[in-house]
Amino acid sequence: MIVDVVFISIGLNYVTTVVLKVGNSIIKLICSFLALHHNFFGLSIRLGYRLRDNMYYFSSEVFSFPLNCLGRHVCVFGRTGSGKSTTAKVLLFELLRNGVSVLVFDRVGEFNVFDGARVLVPGEGFRVAPLAFEGDDVVSGVEGIVSLFNNFFFTTYFCPLSPLQSRVLRDVLEGYYYRFSEVMRVSRLVEEIRVVQSRYSRVKGWVEGCEALVSRLYPFSKGVLAKVFDSSEDSLDRVLFDGLTIVDLSVLPTDEAKNFLTNIVCDRVYRLGKRLEPSSGLKLVILVDEAHNVAPFIPNYIGVLEKIAIELRKYGISLVTVSTRPTLVSKNIIANSNLIISHSLTSNEDIRLVLNYMVNELEQESFMHVLRTLNVGEALVQANLPEYGCRAIKVKVGLPEHEHLINVKPKHVQKEEGDEKVDDKLWKICEHMPAYVKRILYTVACSEENLTVKSLPISKRKLKEIAYTYNVIEVKGDKIILTEYGSMIAKRLLAIK
Ligand SMILES: Nc1ncnc2c1ncn2[C@@H]1O[C@H](COP(=O)(O)OP(=O)(O)OP(=O)(O)O)[C@@H](O)[C@H]1O
Ligand SMILES: [Mg+2]
Repeated sequence: MIVDVVFISIGLNYVTTVVLKVGNSIIKLICSFLALHHNFFGLSIRLGYRLRDNMYYFSSEVFSFPLNCLGRHVCVFGRTGSGKSTTAKVLLFELLRNGVSVLVFDRVGEFNVFDGARVLVPGEGFRVAPLAFEGDDVVSGVEGIVSLFNNFFFTTYFCPLSPLQSRVLRDVLEGYYYRFSEVMRVSRLVEEIRVVQSRYSRVKGWVEGCEALVSRLYPFSKGVLAKVFDSSEDSLDRVLFDGLTIVDLSVLPTDEAKNFLTNIVCDRVYRLGKRLEPSSGLKLVILVDEAHNVAPFIPNYIGVLEKIAIELRKYGISLVTVSTRPTLVSKNIIANSNLIISHSLTSNEDIRLVLNYMVNELEQESFMHVLRTLNVGEALVQANLPEYGCRAIKVKVGLPEHEHLINVKPKHVQKEEGDEKVDDKLWKICEHMPAYVKRILYTVACSEENLTVKSLPISKRKLKEIAYTYNVIEVKGDKIILTEYGSMIAKRLLAIK
């Protein structure tokens, strides 16, 4: 009798376990079916075709992942020419298809390939006021500006403002804003720092500290850069949160200017983002190409992009960083990214670092070879998807609907009719102009026409000869000014420099 009862209870237990196991498997199966086909059931990003191990032809399995995977930041890595920008364009296309707004920092001028994009061209209707702040509290406003400059100095020169430079900047800005309500311009800041420099010329360290500040800020107050940075008005607003906005950094002549503008715009986005309502949906994706320039790896340093990555996720703002070398990019950004797409890499250091974030320690050796031998357009993708067992997946980026994004030439920003012909003509003239005339033209343009004949190592007679032959400058008494034609060529020259 007891034996019977024991057998019956064992039997019941067994049946229950089997039923539970079968039930569990069916639920798992349904879940993975739904997950694999989330493009039919929810918003998804279709990246490309999945490549199976040991298969040298494409499988027809589309690799896609839910849109919310992008909500926790993305990193795209790969050596030069491996397909990073193309992958970024595919991601952009997919985000726009899903109705997410995107802000692109385009250092090379290659992302203007989408219809209806709003392209912000620095100097042509787009300028920023680096010394502006919101609200009436001068002290905290000035602190914000000092921190912006600190970020710019850190990311560009790999050293922060010294305590003395921060103090000079703080004193000059506060002194100005307690007296005036208009936003201070960079040229005025440079002038005022010079005044401080001469006032404290006998105090040890002040001259050098102020000189370092002035020499780094001066270029933003003269020539073409003044058109972008020497302004008391920002032409940035909430429009950033609507559709595709591209900041075309390629027209800026120096890396410093590109970094400064990126830091300023990101700083504005950070402040705007903090005022949004917390949201679980994706509102804005910020795509930064060549991200090692603005979010470099500096131990114990948190810049504005890191702050966006760490603090703005809960407000629906996400970051896509693209770079050739993961070792050069801030670890804070990589560690906070949920989706990592790595095209082929060559340096062992880069491969090890990226694999650290993609696969577990035991698998790293086997994946090293995979990362080294990926073809152009192929990538190893770690999206931490449970349906793939959180494994890294090999993908050939691009589906038939992305065909038009590969090898596409960027559109020209809409110009007035005939502008392109004038541009070509100017280009030819620049090419044939003697170098010494170009140098004079450049010097006159940078001096904002405050140049005297005596300040140039060339005689007045020779200058008049140049004025007559090339019609680019005019000698008026002791002053040299640009003709209309000369200023058009100077603009071209400054853009090339
Ligand atoms: N997914 C792809 N499918 C087919 N061809 C591709 C793909 N991705 C890139 N290519 C090819 O490789 C070329 C270089 O790609 P891309 O400009 O995206 O590389 P990159 O890594 O951004 O290079 P760089 O470091 O110079 O910016 C493209 O012009 C295209 O011809
Ligand atoms: Mg590229």
